[in-house]
Amino acid sequence: MTISLQLALIFLGVAIVVMGMLWIFIPVLSGLPWVPTHLKRIRKALELSALRPDEILYDLGAGDGRVLVQAARQYGARAVGIELSPTHCVLAWLRVLLSSVFNRVSIRWGNFYKMNLGEADVVFAYLTPAHAMRLRPQLESQLRTGSRVVTISANIEGWEPSAFDSGDLIFLYHMPPKPGSLVSFLAKEACPPSQE
Ligand SMILES: C[S@@+](CC[C@H](N)C(=O)[O-])C[C@H]1O[C@@H](n2cnc3c(N)ncnc32)[C@H](O)[C@@H]1O
Repeated sequence: MTISLQLALIFLGVAIVVMGMLWIFIPVLSGLPWVPTHLKRIRKALELSALRPDEILYDLGAGDGRVLVQAARQYGARAVGIELSPTHCVLAWLRVLLSSVFNRVSIRWGNFYKMNLGEADVVFAYLTPAHAMRLRPQLESQLRTGSRVVTISANIEGWEPSAFDSGDLIFLYHMPPKPGSLVSFLAKEACPPSQE
């Protein structure tokens, strides 16, 4: 084996190890590990958000890009994914490249807390309660009236959802958010205010 081939193999090995470590450690260190959303749950969430063709969907923490592809393919939306882990960005980019909707999807490598989300019509985010709390002021200050926020797994404290899927833990909010909570939403669902 020639020296240059040996060097190329060593370089390739090191690159694979580094990318693998970034794959594992960046999501874990962010406090929001990579847990891909099941396709059925994505479909329900997008359905609930009433995403329309040509609207812009942001996925905060895009993982492998599955939400972006689904939003663009099924709804004709334009989808923007923000992802902290470069390895996930590469995987998402490959997924998008192999899909029929690569011209409607873009992936930004970075921290969603440091980005402006103002152009989003729909924000999709798979969150933990701590991240939901941290994200709240950013959503309140950046999102336009009429935009929607759909969260998976964690609700946003202090906001009353406009819809809630208890089976799949999906929460929908309309901007500006109504003050309240999941409890106030459930109370209204159980005893709707009388029409008189
Ligand atoms: C629970 S996964 C959700 C993946 C994808 N949205 C889905 O539903 O299949 C969360 C993702 O967010 C990424 N992440 C965590 N903190 C982030 C941050 N501050 N900015 C951008 N991405 C972040 C993680 O690397 C991980 O891929």
